[in-house]
Amino acid sequence: MTVDLAPSRAGALVLRNPVLTASGTFGYGTEYESIFDIQRLGAIVCKTATRHPRSGNAPARIAETPSGMLNSIGLQNVGLEAVVRDKGPIWAGWQVPVIVNIAAESGAEFAEMAVMLGDVPGVAGLELNISCPNVAGGLDFGTDPVLTAEVVSAVRRSTKLPIIAKLTPNVTDIVSIARACEDAGADAVSLINTLVGMVIDIRTRRPILGTVSGGLSGPAIKPVALAAVYRVAGAVRIPVIGIGGIRTAEDALEFIMAGASAVQVGSVSFVDPWTAPNVLSGLQDWCSEEGVDAVRDLIGVGRVPPRLATGEHR
Ligand code: SIN
Repeated sequence: MTVDLAPSRAGALVLRNPVLTASGTFGYGTEYESIFDIQRLGAIVCKTATRHPRSGNAPARIAETPSGMLNSIGLQNVGLEAVVRDKGPIWAGWQVPVIVNIAAESGAEFAEMAVMLGDVPGVAGLELNISCPNVAGGLDFGTDPVLTAEVVSAVRRSTKLPIIAKLTPNVTDIVSIARACEDAGADAVSLINTLVGMVIDIRTRRPILGTVSGGLSGPAIKPVALAAVYRVAGAVRIPVIGIGGIRTAEDALEFIMAGASAVQVGSVSFVDPWTAPNVLSGLQDWCSEEGVDAVRDLIGVGRVPPRLATGEHR
């Protein structure tokens, strides 16, 4: 049986299938070209680019935790001009769409970067990083619906490229942020970015990360991510892209059944670089075995009536 893996569109962004790679875990895509056929993926989201180069935070910048990983990289990158100059021509020759993840210090800077990327062949869309917990002000935009809307609107006015806003779970009400993105013209939202966490080395009696706290990713955050996706998918009409601890096709199916149109495979790629293509093949096999013709038919099938979801079922 041939399964149609193409997911719904995200505005003008056509994903080839629902399995993407998450920003910061897959470099610029080029690093994985010799490992597997990256052209099979739904899309590649590259490491966050900033307007100017950044050397990132002081070490240590990575710490292992039970079922997860803490990072405090601090948006180390070569800067947008170098990304466009060095990677754009490579991406232009690829079939797999490349989504450039960008972070900036103001709405105006986000907009300037969107303009710089507007005519770059090989750039299929933008993911706005309004959710980095590792830099000063990194969470400011994504924790306030008004600031979120300002950033998304500024970018919307500056580009025709599809816009995905990447949301933080480090908020009281992620739904209000997602709605602000939708109202301001985002084509999709992706969630969740990392949760703030920390570890202390009891030998040195000091926090392990140079920045004391960092962002937690990996299997430990999957239930948190799934609940956030479920809530947001019930509240917005734009596509939701699920991120957080996805390691298997079954994990991806949970996100899709919760209402995600697509998923991003994140830090597990550091442990097993074949995870994203394996999730894709696993989805194909599962749908085939279950007699599901198209994976999009599964989007949101795991949702229950709101009355039951709030526990008012007695
Ligand atoms: C980082 O570079 O610090 C991670 C990026 C992020 O969490 O958005």
